[in-house]
Amino acid sequence: MRPRKLLVSFFFFIFLSSFNPIVSAENVTFDFSSFTLRNITLLGDSYLRNGIIGLTKALDVPTSSAGVVIYNNPIIFYDRESNITASFSTRFSFSINNVNPSSFGDGLAFFLSPRNRTLGSSGGYLGLVNSSQLTSNKFVAIEFDTRLDLHFNDPNENHVGLDIDSLNSIRAEDPILQGIDLKSGNSITAWIDYKNDQKKLRVYLSYSSFKPEKPVLSVDIDLSDYLKGLIYVGFSASTEGSTELHQIENWSFETIGFLPARPSGKRVGLVFAIAGPTFFGVVLVALGYLSVQKLRGIRRQMSFKAELVACPREFSYKGLKSATKGFHSSRIIGHGAFGTVYKAFFKSSGTIAAVKRSRHSHEGKTEFLAELSIIAGLRHKNLVQLQGWCVEKGELLLVYDFMPNGSLDKMLYQESELGSLLDWSHRLNIVIGLASVLTYLHQECEQRVIHRDIKTGNVLLDGNFKARLGDFGLAKLMDHDKSPVSTLTAGTMGYLAPEYLQYGKATEKTDVYSYGVVALEVACGRRPIERDDFKMVNLVDWVWGLHTYGKIIEAADKRLNGKFKEEEMRKLLLLGLSCANPDCAERPSMRKVLQILNDEAVSLDVPKIKPSLSFSSGLPLNLDDIVSDYMNSSSMCEIRIS
Ligand SMILES: *[C@@H]1O[C@H](CO)[C@@H](O)[C@H](O)[C@H]1NC(C)=O
Ligand SMILES: *[C@@H]1O[C@H](CO)[C@@H](O)[C@H](O)[C@H]1NC(C)=O
Ligand SMILES: *[C@@H]1O[C@H](CO)[C@@H](O)[C@H](O)[C@H]1NC(C)=O
Ligand SMILES: *[C@@H]1O[C@H](CO)[C@@H](O)[C@H](O)[C@H]1NC(C)=O
Ligand SMILES: *[C@@H]1O[C@H](CO)[C@@H](O)[C@H](O)[C@H]1NC(C)=O
Ligand SMILES: *[C@@H]1O[C@H](CO)[C@@H](O)[C@H](O)[C@H]1NC(C)=O
Repeated sequence: MRPRKLLVSFFFFIFLSSFNPIVSAENVTFDFSSFTLRNITLLGDSYLRNGIIGLTKALDVPTSSAGVVIYNNPIIFYDRESNITASFSTRFSFSINNVNPSSFGDGLAFFLSPRNRTLGSSGGYLGLVNSSQLTSNKFVAIEFDTRLDLHFNDPNENHVGLDIDSLNSIRAEDPILQGIDLKSGNSITAWIDYKNDQKKLRVYLSYSSFKPEKPVLSVDIDLSDYLKGLIYVGFSASTEGSTELHQIENWSFETIGFLPARPSGKRVGLVFAIAGPTFFGVVLVALGYLSVQKLRGIRRQMSFKAELVACPREFSYKGLKSATKGFHSSRIIGHGAFGTVYKAFFKSSGTIAAVKRSRHSHEGKTEFLAELSIIAGLRHKNLVQLQGWCVEKGELLLVYDFMPNGSLDKMLYQESELGSLLDWSHRLNIVIGLASVLTYLHQECEQRVIHRDIKTGNVLLDGNFKARLGDFGLAKLMDHDKSPVSTLTAGTMGYLAPEYLQYGKATEKTDVYSYGVVALEVACGRRPIERDDFKMVNLVDWVWGLHTYGKIIEAADKRLNGKFKEEEMRKLLLLGLSCANPDCAERPSMRKVLQILNDEAVSLDVPKIKPSLSFSSGLPLNLDDIVSDYMNSSSMCEIRIS
């Protein structure tokens, strides 16, 4: 090794050893007394409803279904420095219900696994194992199995077993010996304790919330080999043509046994103290030698590759035409700013997508390409993902993930009339998701993006009612000869910040204003501008008026019937007002909004009286400013390559 390389590697080693989480193992503990979408990932058919996680399909059973829920943060069980493997202990309540008791199966499992994205097959595979790759997933699981699968040597259709990397249980017991019938539909609480010092795993079950003395399953086993590295914990379940529902009601988990925390950064400090400033200087000089250009080159190559892989693909016009029944009117699911949106069903793959078709092919071209270039470069779980595009026959088509629950405005105003009202936990998760994606657009993605058309009609809801921001269409609206306001539909007016209406300049803060209006709509269930007997009522003014009289909580959506936490409702209403402050300098950043929603920052004071603003007239509308932040489109080349 050449000295330069050696030094660099050494520096790298210090870097790694100071930031690698493995050296700073701490006991982990978390407790979900009910669930929100915070800190968990739902895979497959799992869903969240009223704070409870359903792992298999609630609707259209009997079918086969598999679902997984995973705690997002990986857990460290092994601390290399102290050579300690943590013990763990978890408690959760679940229920297994059957709409049709004669059609049962298959069961659920609690698992620990190095993977966080694996969804196995339905049927006897419990959502843990892929039926075509039986050995691909690594896991330690406790199965609560309600079906007799002979090919996994199951003893009966009511057993609790320990599985490692395979569904053939190492040991399985029938909990009926302790009076527990897994399929009874009762809420069952399970405790799973692993003590690494005793090399013992025990599972307890009860219909009550008191832990019984005697375990249902007790196995002498050393799990330390399976707990190296980063481990994810979660649940999976499956059905096979049955009507069984698997629900997790609450869940707590802890690791136990690591030594008391060391002050962080001690290692680095120690190394530098020993090595001394001279050595540090040498390292720096050596690093300086490393051509910065070279580093840049490497980084560019890497990101280029990553984008190629993730890049949306080109679709054939023929394929899209047949998937939408020749753009049949029965397939229309909406009208975006720049065209009609169709539901497409691809027979060959059995998948569904949304296809957006430009209304005016020649006018729409730059607009579509702008949307394509912006959205193709973005990745966030709260964005509607672009699958691909098609430019053919003078038409421009964009293909997106299909959002089964439609748009937020439909859900807030129309669906509720049909009897399905969005509950409070979903509403809260939607505003958090939206804050998260706007933080990303404004501050975290490479090319800062101002969406400038945030409204409930552009917030779509996926199968789990997670918010997905869509319609980046406005990027292309800004033709040089049009004033931005004149081209906006009336439905958008209520979302526009006063300074935007005045000067026509979109900034992050105008997005924040629109977000504030959406947050208020979600809390109040009222449109931004509503006709009230004789006059038009502006939502922001209305809520602010209630705030002035100390009655802000009265703004809460009446249809919720008080089913919300008053603290959370008040917080969201006040946050909505802070964002919709007429004075843009007073509005928080989206990052701040997200922190407040996640209880990582305290709420902001909202003046009792709505501030009034006076504009100095005569400032020209600067259209160049409006357009410029979108013209810097770097992602076009990636699209052509793939
Ligand atoms: C969610 O994760 C954050 C850190 O990522 C943590 O501070 C918070 O306590 C977690 N919440 C729950 C309920 O586990
Ligand atoms: C770590 O501990 C295990 C027993 O818990 C022991 O077998 C092993 O030798 C130890 N390793 C080191 C590097 O001390
Ligand atoms: C899985 O974990 C990796 C890093 O460990 C993370 O980047 C990724 O977002 C996780 N995926 C999910 C679905 O949580
Ligand atoms: C199982 O693995 C195959 C091959 O990787 C994959 O195509 C299939 O989708 C997987 N099945 C499930 C249920 O994940
Ligand atoms: C978990 O949920 C079950 C069923 O709703 C309930 O009986 C139990 O008390 C809950 N446990 C905790 C610790 O919240
Ligand atoms: C971890 O838990 C053990 C026992 O519960 C305790 O003695 C230790 O101080 C904890 N370690 C840390 C880092 O909190």
